[in-house]
Amino acid sequence: MLSYRHGFHAGNFADVLKHCVQVEIISHLQKKDAAFDYIDTHAGAGKYALASDMAQKNCEYKNGIYRLFNQCDLPGLQNYLRLIEGINPQGVLQHYPGSPLIASQTLRPQDKAWLFELHPSDAEKLRGNMPRGRQFQVREEDGFAALASQLPSRSRRALILIDPPYEQKADYQRVISALQLIHRKMATATVALWYPVVERGRIDALERQLADTGIRNIELFELGIRADAGGHGMTSAGMIVINPPWTLRGQMEALLPPLAKALSEDGESHYRCVTLAAE
Ligand SMILES: C[S@@+](CC[C@H](N)C(=O)[O-])C[C@H]1O[C@@H](n2cnc3c(N)ncnc32)[C@H](O)[C@@H]1O
Repeated sequence: MLSYRHGFHAGNFADVLKHCVQVEIISHLQKKDAAFDYIDTHAGAGKYALASDMAQKNCEYKNGIYRLFNQCDLPGLQNYLRLIEGINPQGVLQHYPGSPLIASQTLRPQDKAWLFELHPSDAEKLRGNMPRGRQFQVREEDGFAALASQLPSRSRRALILIDPPYEQKADYQRVISALQLIHRKMATATVALWYPVVERGRIDALERQLADTGIRNIELFELGIRADAGGHGMTSAGMIVINPPWTLRGQMEALLPPLAKALSEDGESHYRCVTLAAE
């Protein structure tokens, strides 16, 4: 059953971290002219109106993008914030982009996007939010299952974003299987896996399982806005990046301290940059 709707969460602190990492990886891949494929296994609706009932229910964006908007001088955040400002050209924060819209704003004509979204209404919205044409392929399919036929990607260069809701606990296991499959079929792909910290033990286990796969060259970047709360809500979120651009670690080390300061709740913010497996 698909109960998760990203519209309730769009623009929160976890989206900010995820999309900063996405923007930096895409920008690095584009330092070479060669095309790459962008594969988004859990794409969402693509664009979110912050005045909508969903976004207004808990106003999660108020602890995320709302605190950063119009602050392009924040170290390391310029690329990301310029993009958000481009989507809100009147200087008023009205919309927040999902990962597919960020891709559509940044991909070059030679790059291609494959966007998987299982929820029928979000898949339909996504179709409406993406440019028409063959460059952006929207599929109402299981993104985990689709990886087997997508890889290796035609361009032989790829960024794969894996961003499941984790509402079904099986997602914690499915992400490990997905990373193993990607490693078997396209070991050179850059993979960005998002995770929430609701129960810290689940993430400790995820890190251990990942280490046991034997996959090399893995970095973890985590941002927390509150202290861990033992199952009472998401307090931190992270990105695990396999085959990161060599510049990403330095960028995140510069970006995470001001981000943690800006998004802190009750002075309890924290961050981690960890090499889970060396090259
Ligand atoms: C966290 S949201 C994605 C947000 C999006 N990546 C972004 O950053 O804007 C997760 C999405 O995955 C969808 N979903 C859940 N299970 C899925 C699956 N197995 N395959 C594809 N989409 C799935 C949900 O409907 C939801 O829209």
